[in-house]
Amino acid sequence: MVNGYREAVVERIEEVRGKNMSNTVNEILETSPVMPVLVIDEVEDAVPLAKALVSGGLKVLEITLRTEAALDAIRAISQDVEGALIGAGTITTPAQLQQVRDAGCVFAISPGATPALLKAGKEIDIHYIPAISTASELMVGMEAGYTAFKFFPAESSGGVGALRSFAGPMPEVTFCPTGGIGPDNFCDYLSLSNVACVGGSWVVPSELVKKKDWEGIKALAAGVVQQAARIR
Ligand code: 3PG
Repeated sequence: MVNGYREAVVERIEEVRGKNMSNTVNEILETSPVMPVLVIDEVEDAVPLAKALVSGGLKVLEITLRTEAALDAIRAISQDVEGALIGAGTITTPAQLQQVRDAGCVFAISPGATPALLKAGKEIDIHYIPAISTASELMVGMEAGYTAFKFFPAESSGGVGALRSFAGPMPEVTFCPTGGIGPDNFCDYLSLSNVACVGGSWVVPSELVKKKDWEGIKALAAGVVQQAARIR
């Protein structure tokens, strides 16, 4: 029975990932204006938290590999949250790329990039999104075949001004800026032509998660979607 259950879980995860993998990386990033950056401590929070965000209109989720619960959280959301496009964050090794792929992710994001990750990201059947913070890093990533990047840490690496400057020589590249972005500046980023979406933890305040205030998180997500709709 236990084995049968495990097989069914793996099958379900494969099915959901397979369906969502028909999207290009840009289609995934452009699905929602903001990508919540999730740090999940308790696996039991994963599904209600993801459901709250998805029903508030934020469907693309970055689950960071910063907690022990992260991989189980990814598996649980893959199985049980219809409509979520699940990615993993804080990827620092090629082995983690494989782990999150097997747990059900359709994309994976790093806070930077290494030659090994740039290579592994091209060999795996999920979308890999490396991060850059300078023009030279961007050129290395482009040379490896990437056209979509996280821009991290966005605010302290030049913010909106830096992204506007990248658009001149590299107009074909799209970004998900993350780091230091919040309610007061996310729309400035979204108004740039080379920004597909912005990432941030502000849409998932830890005090609301601790209180399991899923309605509060849904309302926050819906408010962000509404604000973004005014400029897009
Ligand atoms: C990340 O993990 O991508 C960032 O740490 C999120 O940055 P923020 O907490 O400033 O949104």
